[in-house]
Amino acid sequence: EWILSNGEIVKEQDLEISKEDRGYQFGDGIYEVIRVYEGDLFTATEHIDRFYQSAEKIRITVPYTKDVFHKMLHDLVEMNSIDNGQVYVQITRGAAERNHQFPVNVEPVVVGYTKSVERPVAFMEQGVKATLIEDVRWLRCDIKSLNLLGNVMAKQQAYEEGYFEAVLHRGDTVTEGSSSNMYGIKDGVVYTHPATNLILNGITRRVILEICEEFGIKVVEEPFTKQQALEMDEFFMSSTTTEVMPVVEISGHTIGNGTPGKMTRKLQQAFEARIK
Ligand code: PDD
Repeated sequence: EWILSNGEIVKEQDLEISKEDRGYQFGDGIYEVIRVYEGDLFTATEHIDRFYQSAEKIRITVPYTKDVFHKMLHDLVEMNSIDNGQVYVQITRGAAERNHQFPVNVEPVVVGYTKSVERPVAFMEQGVKATLIEDVRWLRCDIKSLNLLGNVMAKQQAYEEGYFEAVLHRGDTVTEGSSSNMYGIKDGVVYTHPATNLILNGITRRVILEICEEFGIKVVEEPFTKQQALEMDEFFMSSTTTEVMPVVEISGHTIGNGTPGKMTRKLQQAFEARIK
């Protein structure tokens, strides 16, 4: 398998990561996950833009132009003959003697690799169950940071309780999922948390909001409460890997009639049309 290591595509066994890489010690870095459909990177420009934005927000400078970076990811996918799958890529502040403050004159470390993955079609047909969990993450969830402990702990709790995903809430307000965005539909209107510092503005979310606009579906980007979530007619989540994923139960409460809702279906189909 070929991987991306600091601007070069090398054999996986040639990857060397320092014990003092700041990603490893501090989670001091950011990442992206990009879907590959039929050999093509889906919404690559948007993901690459967000990669550069996340890096800039924590004051890491990506050492290539976006075009060069795009080409590296494209070549990686091609060299690994990925048909349906994903690219994971991260940048850390680099390797230096362990001190919390930024090191000086240290190059950032970029690593990227690919993986084949099929679309989760069975889950998309049946819908999934999710559970409300308190959002205890920091206040810069707009950064796609490598620090994912809050997300990891929430997902694990959901998983241990038999749920597919955690619906995170800060106090009464639903924010997003542990690795997804959350949406409710009530009386034909789509509700989702606004793209503030409290959520990651998903690329899939942006595509979905575009589709809504195209269809003339009203979207209200305002926070909704846990109680409102349970009373939605339809509910769904989205991410690069789960696309438009119906949520049919939240914390033991059935949403609608317990099957994927009509509008959710319509959005799923429209999303699918965009990847083909
Ligand atoms: N997760 N919110 C959080 C906290 C996420 O981690 C993700 C993505 C999203 C959805 O973003 P997008 O539509 O751009 O994938 C929202 C990725 C897939 C992951 O960590 O694996």
